[in-house]
Amino acid sequence: MAFYYRQGEVPKKRHTIFMKDNLLLREEVFGLNGFSGRYSLLYHLNPPTRIAKVGEWRNNLIEEWNNAGYRHHKLSTSKLRKSNDVFLDRIPLIFNEDVIISYAKVDEGESKLFYRNADFDEVYYIQEGEAEFRSVFGSIELVQGDYLVIPRGTTYTFNFKRYSELLVIEGKQVEIPRQYRNDYGQLIEGSFYYNRDIKLPNLKTFNEKGDYNLVVKTSEGFQSITLDYHPFDVIGWDGYLYPFALNVYDLEPITGKLHQPPTVYTTFTANNFVICTFVPRLFDYHPNSVPISYYHDNVDADEVLFYSSGQFMSRRGISKGDITLHRGGHVHGPQPGAVESSLSKRGSYNDEVAVMVETQRRVKLTNYAKEVDDPSYPLSWYIP
Ligand SMILES: [Fe+2]
Repeated sequence: MAFYYRQGEVPKKRHTIFMKDNLLLREEVFGLNGFSGRYSLLYHLNPPTRIAKVGEWRNNLIEEWNNAGYRHHKLSTSKLRKSNDVFLDRIPLIFNEDVIISYAKVDEGESKLFYRNADFDEVYYIQEGEAEFRSVFGSIELVQGDYLVIPRGTTYTFNFKRYSELLVIEGKQVEIPRQYRNDYGQLIEGSFYYNRDIKLPNLKTFNEKGDYNLVVKTSEGFQSITLDYHPFDVIGWDGYLYPFALNVYDLEPITGKLHQPPTVYTTFTANNFVICTFVPRLFDYHPNSVPISYYHDNVDADEVLFYSSGQFMSRRGISKGDITLHRGGHVHGPQPGAVESSLSKRGSYNDEVAVMVETQRRVKLTNYAKEVDDPSYPLSWYIP
């Protein structure tokens, strides 16, 4: 996150003795990129190094769909099984060295585990459902259409208030785009969203003893550890690094007389990929405009598109929850008839919501993706 935020009690000066009820509080510097990136200072009731037990290690290497070829794909998340756990058991579909895109369908309920991703920041998109995100920084209430951005290393858990479906994107350096921020971190006029749209954590301190199981994830597996105190034992923190949420219905799309490129929908930047959001908006309004995307071939990128809700303007045969992967080097764009039918919609309202991940390096598919792939999709532009 790019602006200063504070919750709870913090001492007047950092790196000084801080007492509360005769207890010496333990300061943690939680930061990225060595000691030169964004960071926050957290004040714990217990030393955050204190571990009661080292539990099991479980390998979790992603299995690649070998010989998938090089073509466009359509994956149906509706055909995926439920996940037993949103963190341990979400289903990876598309990945490379920079990003892992997974999907999870989870039942109502409070997780008994605490989670921490050591390697990647995480972006959860709430496709369906409702949840309370709980973390060492505090809690955020989540509803359908929320993005939740969690810096790597954050300790957190979820309470799902009903059955929920989540798209999960893991990567590094997930940021509010630089071009939206002024030198002070404020979001400038004309940005896709404003600081006020960002949902910040509300601190809740837990001063409790017991057995608390924490799972630390790396790109190779899961390490369980047990703490003898509640991990959310922070009484105050401040800084620039913390989880936050943003709802897609609060985004402010730039619409145009003529078609705007997908870059105007950039929502987050990350290391070697971007996340864009197509949100409800007016169609282009020039009297001769073609208010729909052009045929295009983003040679330098692979394009993953998750269809969240509404009428998907350039696509036929796409259902809510489908994911397409359009490969750089193959052309894609409006399907037959879509350009013609778009012409009557100039200046009218389009209600689609879709999440796009555009990667700079080629992605791979997993064996889970193979199971829900529609092999006829590359021919969906063909009419004999
Ligand atoms: Fe595209």
